[in-house]
Amino acid sequence: MSGTSPIRPVLQNKVLYGGDYNPEQWPPKVWEADHAAFDLAGIDTLTLGVFDWALISAGEDDYDFTLLDAVVARVAASGRRFVMATATGALPPWLAHRHPEVNRTDFEGRRHVYGQRHNACPSSPVFRRLSARLAGKIAERYAGHPQLVAWHIGNEYGGACYCGNCAAAFRSWLRERYRSLDRLNEAWNAAFWSHTFTDWDEIVPPNALSEHWRGQNHTAFQGITLDYLRFMSEAMLQNFVEEKAAIREHDASTPATTNFMGMYRPIDYHRWAEQLDFASWDNYPPTDRSEARMAFTHDLMRGLKGGDPFWVMEQTPTITASRDINPVKRPGVLRLWSWQSVAHGADAVLYFQMRQSRGACEKYHGAVLDHSGRTDTRAFREVAELGADFRRVGDAVLGARTPARAALLFDWDSWWASEMTDGLNRTVSYPQVVLAYHRALWEAGVQLDVVPVDAPLDGYDVVVAPLLHMIKGDTAERLRAVAERGGSVVSTFHSGRVDQDTNAFLTDVPGPLASLFGVRVEETDSLPDDVVNRISLSGAGGERTVTSRSVFEILVAEGAEAVGTYNDDFYAGRPAVTRKPFPAGGAAWYVGTLLDQNGLSSILRSVLAEQGLIGPYADEPELEFTVRSLEDVRTSFLLNHADTPVTVQAHAAGTDLLTGRVLAAGEQITLAPKDVVVLREA
Ligand code: GLA
Ligand code: ZN
Repeated sequence: MSGTSPIRPVLQNKVLYGGDYNPEQWPPKVWEADHAAFDLAGIDTLTLGVFDWALISAGEDDYDFTLLDAVVARVAASGRRFVMATATGALPPWLAHRHPEVNRTDFEGRRHVYGQRHNACPSSPVFRRLSARLAGKIAERYAGHPQLVAWHIGNEYGGACYCGNCAAAFRSWLRERYRSLDRLNEAWNAAFWSHTFTDWDEIVPPNALSEHWRGQNHTAFQGITLDYLRFMSEAMLQNFVEEKAAIREHDASTPATTNFMGMYRPIDYHRWAEQLDFASWDNYPPTDRSEARMAFTHDLMRGLKGGDPFWVMEQTPTITASRDINPVKRPGVLRLWSWQSVAHGADAVLYFQMRQSRGACEKYHGAVLDHSGRTDTRAFREVAELGADFRRVGDAVLGARTPARAALLFDWDSWWASEMTDGLNRTVSYPQVVLAYHRALWEAGVQLDVVPVDAPLDGYDVVVAPLLHMIKGDTAERLRAVAERGGSVVSTFHSGRVDQDTNAFLTDVPGPLASLFGVRVEETDSLPDDVVNRISLSGAGGERTVTSRSVFEILVAEGAEAVGTYNDDFYAGRPAVTRKPFPAGGAAWYVGTLLDQNGLSSILRSVLAEQGLIGPYADEPELEFTVRSLEDVRTSFLLNHADTPVTVQAHAAGTDLLTGRVLAAGEQITLAPKDVVVLREA
């Protein structure tokens, strides 16, 4: 709504600390022990009722809040704050039984029956009506509660439905988008394979029964599949919006969010962001060495709301039960990763969950309290020590922002479009390329924002746009403006290939980016990933040879100079990496192949060095460095992800808020393995 000021979480006196609490799964006498333990651990915030639909409502007109009231009353008596969910994370059996339309139809065309969760058809009129009604009832009941800090709508929206209701909604969405079938036929390049549509009703969802073979990424018509992804993401957003509107009828000011999943392909979080009052996400990294990936994902989530602080809505204190093999977090890792989230802009650090479920598939998922409820376990001790850390540091960084002069562009359309296309290299994934570029930047210690392609770029001296496959709107012009005013722009192979409809440009590759980078891609070779082409890189560090794999664009420099050349195959001697200088000192770098991490690092360090953006600890790749600043106060974070101690010279004078130690600039500090320094700079 234009003209109204945004609703943001009210800053508290410290980082919010707690998590999902589902005491409706165990007897009230246990609740007393829960709260006693929470007091010991410095827990101040509990998320309630995410999966309570069936416990609240046994039928359409039947709402009974006895149990949730009791939970809220006990939480309120403890003095803790709470996040109230709209309870729509899972359907109740009666609803699925009475209205089978609420169950999804899957990609293979099978209508599901009752079971699991996160599986409501987003287009079902019954689901939309009853989920919004439930959200409204809950809001009516708990709005205005002095300890309510936020609304948690739905849970981890995702997946897709291919039912008749979705097909009809897809057609309406298409009418709205294209207005005429002529325009739609043009966008989908329907003249290919006799697909010219003559009636909107001829359009069906793209799935295994229609346009697809071999799964989600093999489609005869990228335009249709891409539009279905966009539509499905928006259909679920509509569910969120309808629940939020129901809340707003009773509560005008408590911020509302939903828990995102980081780099999650089916939902375009950039298109959702505007409807959220603040961003929050669930941090379940795939491995115990995911620190760079988490750094990236925190930045992606922070970028959703223009750099505003976000919340970690869930993380596990110990194990994630859903993997085949479930390692515990090693000593110190919970603390390190939790501080890492704060270092990247989190103002709340919450767990899933506070006490282990007794039964069903998550009964062994890690929790602050295990089934025994003991508080003398290693896990509980680490949770409590972190609680003490957060109390000690208080409100020092709440609301503070990241002063980044470098940006990485991320785009769901480019992700979708590049991965569902024949003719490229199907072993190259968009996240893999983005993460490789991110890692090189992260290791160099540059403060980074991860932003959508339509974000303003004026504040950035370096803009990195890996695999910018689709060019929409004025992105090419805005990238050019960065280089023209003296900044540096970087892009890669497979960029500038298609327009917003996934149709190729009728020009040289990389399309609208060609003149900015001063290159033309004459051919794109792709080879199995055991084939290496050596690349000679020239530059500040002298001549060196790195390797590249998978994708080899054969470039013609037209205004750019080669900084890397292929050594092998029939294109030996041709440019693989180029740099086009701009009069005001800017440069546009094009990387036409998948460089190994050393090669990437060397290119990106040259880019950052030209702009004076290398971080102070860039020689220690496992020592992460971030800054949050508020007004004139800078707080920096040093995070030692290594399994060995690291000794460095402090980049600034200040006080470590965790230990009280006062440091002079240049003073030697040693961080133990997994240790953290939170330096309030003097
Ligand atoms: C997700 C969900 C939670 C729970 C956890 C367990 O993030 O939101 O309900 O299932 O995973 O890992
Ligand atoms: Zn559906």
